[in-house]
Amino acid sequence: MSATIGGIEAFAEPIYVTRPFLPPFERVEGRLREIWASRRLSNMGPQHDLLQAELTRHLGVPELRLFSNGTLALQIALLAMGITGKVLTTPFTFSATVHAIALCGAEPVFCDVDPHTLCIDPRSVERMIDDDVAAIIGVHVYGTPCDVDALSHIAKAHGLKLIFDAAHAFGTTLQGRPIGKFGDATMFSFHATKLFHTAEGGGLAFSDPALAHKLELLRNFGIESEDEVALVGTNAKLNEIQAAIGLEVLATLESERALRAEVKAAYVRGLQDTPGIRVVQPGAGISDSLQYAVIRIDEAEFGMNRDALWAALKDWKVFSRRYFFPLCSDFPSYRACQRDNLEQAELAAREVLCLPMFGDLGARGAERIAQMIQYLHRRVRGATGQSSMPSYTP
Ligand SMILES: Cc1ncc(COP(=O)(O)O)c(C=O)c1O
Repeated sequence: MSATIGGIEAFAEPIYVTRPFLPPFERVEGRLREIWASRRLSNMGPQHDLLQAELTRHLGVPELRLFSNGTLALQIALLAMGITGKVLTTPFTFSATVHAIALCGAEPVFCDVDPHTLCIDPRSVERMIDDDVAAIIGVHVYGTPCDVDALSHIAKAHGLKLIFDAAHAFGTTLQGRPIGKFGDATMFSFHATKLFHTAEGGGLAFSDPALAHKLELLRNFGIESEDEVALVGTNAKLNEIQAAIGLEVLATLESERALRAEVKAAYVRGLQDTPGIRVVQPGAGISDSLQYAVIRIDEAEFGMNRDALWAALKDWKVFSRRYFFPLCSDFPSYRACQRDNLEQAELAAREVLCLPMFGDLGARGAERIAQMIQYLHRRVRGATGQSSMPSYTP
């Protein structure tokens, strides 16, 4: 028997923030049989090439190359563009964005975020520009696009490369324009936790065809031909089995999107009247990537802070995530890095919570989680007849 708290039954199994979307096994099996018959497991085989072509079309980008993961795609983008010196970025991101900069030997410099989009704030970017800055990496956090126009303008004015991390923004469009079309290059992550995935994988969209060959060399040990290694490269190839999974995830993705839209709508309905809780939504003209269900908690109005809510939900076996906390700028490796005043990023890191988001959760699951959050609010406000103080402290 699952525990019942406030009349709401705990889930029988732990509910994590996401659950990978899997296409019907038989569909992948057919592709695996093709791979077995061909004995071609890697090195840009037919599954890889087909996925690359289909994703180029799906994402509406001029050029796309695939990689073994998004982190290497980003690192290789920086290497291919010859970025050295300082790279302006956001601390409110997954560690990989900043690690990619550091692993290329460049120096991350942290800018603050816009309080509405939670993406890098162009005003902070302008404040942090000096002669050593070579590039800007913006992250489309939770699928909400950065202010691409302002960033493009700044990059152009100062001769900087502009790269976007669109790990959260697969399929997002901004006023009808595909998200991968902005800046010099855009990275996508195809990790299992993402809506579209290849178990592990990544892609880089770009418009300058001159970049293509360099990227291809860098992801394959710099090998130009059987008797020439043209440059120092690494191994960042997406293999045939990853590509086979990706092709079938892509073919069945719309069913998952439809389910996730219902989950998201159920959260919005269930939480719209809860004081101090705001469901983070993409703005006007932006298609929802449906990758995350994010709430922002105003402690004074809700009555509990984010960490207390995060801890309390575990009693019902709901394991939400505090993405992105701590800020990358607080990691020991980056504490010495130059930074602007990070007031908005610090606030977001304290107030934001990612709720479970996957199709199998269903609208019913999301409604139940919303009820838990409503109940906690009533309880801390003393409206349930129980103690006004939560029993858990973060
Ligand atoms: C914002 C962001 N950037 C980069 C990555 C890294 O991508 P990958 O896991 O494909 O290396 C992730 C997530 O995994 C992410 O959320």
